[in-house]
Amino acid sequence: MVIVGIVAGGTGSRMGADRPKQMLDLCGKPVLIRTAQAFLRHSQVGHIIIGIHPDWYDEVKALTEKELDSRVSVTPGGSDRNDTVMNIINYAKSIDGVSDDTIILTHDAVRPFVTDRMIDDSIAAMDNYAICTAAVPATDTIVVSENGQTVCDFPLRSTMYQVQTPQTFRIGDFVGVYSGLTEKEKSEITDVCKLFYRKGHEVGLIMGDQKNIKLTYPADLTAARTFFEEQEENQ
Ligand code: CTP
Repeated sequence: MVIVGIVAGGTGSRMGADRPKQMLDLCGKPVLIRTAQAFLRHSQVGHIIIGIHPDWYDEVKALTEKELDSRVSVTPGGSDRNDTVMNIINYAKSIDGVSDDTIILTHDAVRPFVTDRMIDDSIAAMDNYAICTAAVPATDTIVVSENGQTVCDFPLRSTMYQVQTPQTFRIGDFVGVYSGLTEKEKSEITDVCKLFYRKGHEVGLIMGDQKNIKLTYPADLTAARTFFEEQEENQ
């Protein structure tokens, strides 16, 4: 059994909607529900914990009880993404059968197109790495700018990847890495993979997918509706 932590503690400010983007409609159900359903379809997923923004806790608890099943729990999210992961892990420890060795796939609530193949590859990568992340080769040329006005470096595109989720690790390893950080490190390092890397772990890559988009701006929601309809037609 593996467990899944869905991070949904953000407010979606760039989406500019009247509610957090994970609560927006995707072809008849909230995005968050679509994401959870994608994991519930996988046979190895024993439990899902959603870390939701505290303002939305009651609504999401009622929603998951109506739309999902008893394998899904809800806990309040934290002040940043890693804090939300920590809250999820604290909750996970209270679940029967969960130990330090339990594998957890952490995933953005706003990436509803995670596939069984990505879940399989993430679990398999735990034989070789303490942490792995889904990623795709960068399609655009990436440049570095420190002042936002001029370019100061041109990294080789063939070595550039865009990071997605799931990001997968064992519960005990995350606690060990996170509890050893200073408050400054916690505020500076927003990515779980970077936390592990800083503590000397190799970060494994598993192939993501161009369709495994993170809904960030309104145009992403339009694309997501098209992808969702295609997915329904192919099932
Ligand atoms: N997230 C979280 N807890 C936070 C902040 C973010 O769980 N305190 C989650 C978001 O809900 C989202 C994921 O992290 O599922 C990726 O973050 P992002 O796309 O930046 O989401 P938001 O912070 O909601 O968006 P914005 O930056 O536009 O406000």
